[in-house]
Amino acid sequence: MMYRTGLKIVAPVAVLVAMCVYLGVQPVAAVNETQDGQDSLMQQKLTHAQSLLEGLALEDYSSIAEHARALHQISVEADWAGIPNRDYSQYGDKFRDAASKTEKAAEEGNLDSAAWQYMQLVVTCVECHKAVRGQAPAEVAVLQH
Ligand code: HEC
Repeated sequence: MMYRTGLKIVAPVAVLVAMCVYLGVQPVAAVNETQDGQDSLMQQKLTHAQSLLEGLALEDYSSIAEHARALHQISVEADWAGIPNRDYSQYGDKFRDAASKTEKAAEEGNLDSAAWQYMQLVVTCVECHKAVRGQAPAEVAVLQH
């Protein structure tokens, strides 16, 4: 019963995420490693966001919580103070808020809420990228296409 309700919401989430990842991230995905071969913070975000979706699809609460926590942590590390865009930090806050709420929902075993919060999180990826593109200094030219 729980599983069914979960699937009803997870399927549209999967479609939305596929769209967002395609529209928001795909054109820049070619640049996915830093020079020392480490995945960039943003590439790590993408990986965790994908794993989180898998956790939602499989109703694996510890995986959902783990990846939500990792996303929150990466967002803290990626403190973009240097980017001259007033809207920018607002997206960082929104992103961390959605990550925390996703983690909390997973800890409470609330799949629907976790899926909903995950959607907010993914929308924030796209919104922030749009904002960054709108006012991109040379460092973020990678997001322009
Ligand atoms: C608060 C703003 C912000 C949010 C939220 C955000 N990003 Fe980014 N993203 C950036 C900026 C700035 C860049 C360009 C600089 C860079 O590449 O590090 C970028 C670049 C990227 C890139 C291309 C660079 C690379 O290393 O491949 C990917 C992929 C990416 N983001 C994925 C994501 C995903 C997935 C999410 C959501 C789970 C997300 N981002 C959320 C600001 C953001």
